[in-house]
Amino acid sequence: MNITNRQRGVRTTAIHAGEGIDPVTRASSPNLVMSATFAPTEATGFSARNRDGYEGFVYARLSNPTVKQLEDKLAALEGAESCQCYASGMAASSALMLGRLSQGDHLVISDTNYVGTAELVRDSLPRFGIEVTPVDMSDLDLVAQAITPRTRMLWVETPANPIMRLADIGALSALARARNVRDVAVDSTFASPIATRPLELGADFVIHSLTKYIGGHGDAMGGAVLGRKSDLDALNLEATVHFGGVLSPFNAWLILRGAATLPIRMRAHEETALAVARFLEGHKYVKRVFYPGLASHPQHDLARRQMRNFSGMLTFQVADGLAVARRMVEKLDVVHYAVSLGHHRSLIYWIPTADLMRSTFRHEGELLKRYRDFAGDGVFRFSVGLEDAEDICADLDQVL
Ligand SMILES: Cc1ncc(COP(=O)(O)O)c(C=O)c1O
Repeated sequence: MNITNRQRGVRTTAIHAGEGIDPVTRASSPNLVMSATFAPTEATGFSARNRDGYEGFVYARLSNPTVKQLEDKLAALEGAESCQCYASGMAASSALMLGRLSQGDHLVISDTNYVGTAELVRDSLPRFGIEVTPVDMSDLDLVAQAITPRTRMLWVETPANPIMRLADIGALSALARARNVRDVAVDSTFASPIATRPLELGADFVIHSLTKYIGGHGDAMGGAVLGRKSDLDALNLEATVHFGGVLSPFNAWLILRGAATLPIRMRAHEETALAVARFLEGHKYVKRVFYPGLASHPQHDLARRQMRNFSGMLTFQVADGLAVARRMVEKLDVVHYAVSLGHHRSLIYWIPTADLMRSTFRHEGELLKRYRDFAGDGVFRFSVGLEDAEDICADLDQVL
C-alpha cells in the first residue's frame, strides 16, 4: 500500500507532520523564519479581523511560518483540527481561560494542579468576575455537585501536578455534555500526546506546556492550545492577537526538533521511570511511591485505560523530606535538584504539603485530607530523564 494512502504511524507523524522539503532551497530540515512582517501579494485589510480571505502571512503576532510548522505537527500528534502556540504553558492557559470565560461565568477546576494555574484561577480570575470552584476531579459525584447553570468550563489536569492523581477524561466530558457545560479543557502536559489524546475522549481543548516533554530538552519555553478550528480561530483573533503572548520562532524551531523524537523519548522515559519506581518501592527509607505504571497506584486501572504510556513522572515520600532535599542539593550528581520536568535530564524537587497549602492551594477539611492521601507531609516530584536507570538509582541511593 502506498504510504500516502495509509494512516501514518506516530513516529512518522512526529518527524514529518508540519514539515516538508523547502520548495525554494530544497532544505530538508525546517527553516527558521525570524521575520516579524511579511509582504502580502495583494492589498489586504489592516486589522486581523479584516483580511478579506487572504491566507498568506502578514505579521508574526498573527502567524509565522516556523511557528505554523510546529502548530501543524502538534495538531497531527494530538489528533486536533487546529493548534495555537504561545510563549509559555501559562500564556496558553491564561489565553484559553480569558479568551473563553467572561464576567459572571463559573469555572470548575481540579483542586490540585500546576501551581501557576492554581494561583491564576484563585487570585486573578475572581478580579474579573469569574467564579471558581476547585474540586477533586477524580470524584465524579463531587464534580457533578460543583456544576451550576453558570458553569462554562471544566478544567482538568491529569496526571495532576504534583501528586500524580488522575482524572477520567471520558467520564468528565460526558458529565459536562449532560449538564450543558460548554468547554472541557485538559492540561495534558504530564501525559503528552503519546500517552493520552483528550480530544478523542470527548474534551474540547488540550493545553500543553511545550517547555516539558514536547520540547524535551529544557532549552525553550512554549505552550499550546489545541481543539476545533472554529474555536481556535476565535481564540487567535482575541487571545493571541490582543493579549500577544505568542511563541518566538526561534523557540518554535527548537521545539520542532524536540517534538520529532517525542514518541521514542516517551517510550524511554516510561521504561526508565518504571525501573526507578520499582527501585524506590523496594527501598528501606522510602515510605510510598506514586507512579501510574505501578500496580500500587490507587488509579492504576484508569491509568491503563487512559494512558498508552505511563510517562516519566513519579512522586515518593520519605520520613524527613527536608533533610533529604538538603542532601540532594549538595550531593546529587546525575539528577539535578531543579524545578520543571519532561527534559532529557532527570529533575527532582521537594514539595512540602504545608508550604504548598499556604502559598497556593489553601485546602482545608476534606480537600486537605484528599490531598494528603496522595502526598502525606510532602512529596519528591521526580521527572525521570533519559539517563541509564542504574545511574539514576545509584545517585538517589547515596542521598536517601
Ligand atoms: C502541568 C503544567 N501545566 C502548565 C505549566 C506551565 O508551563 P510553563 O512553565 O511553560 O508556563 C506547567 C509548568 O510546570 C505544568 O507542569
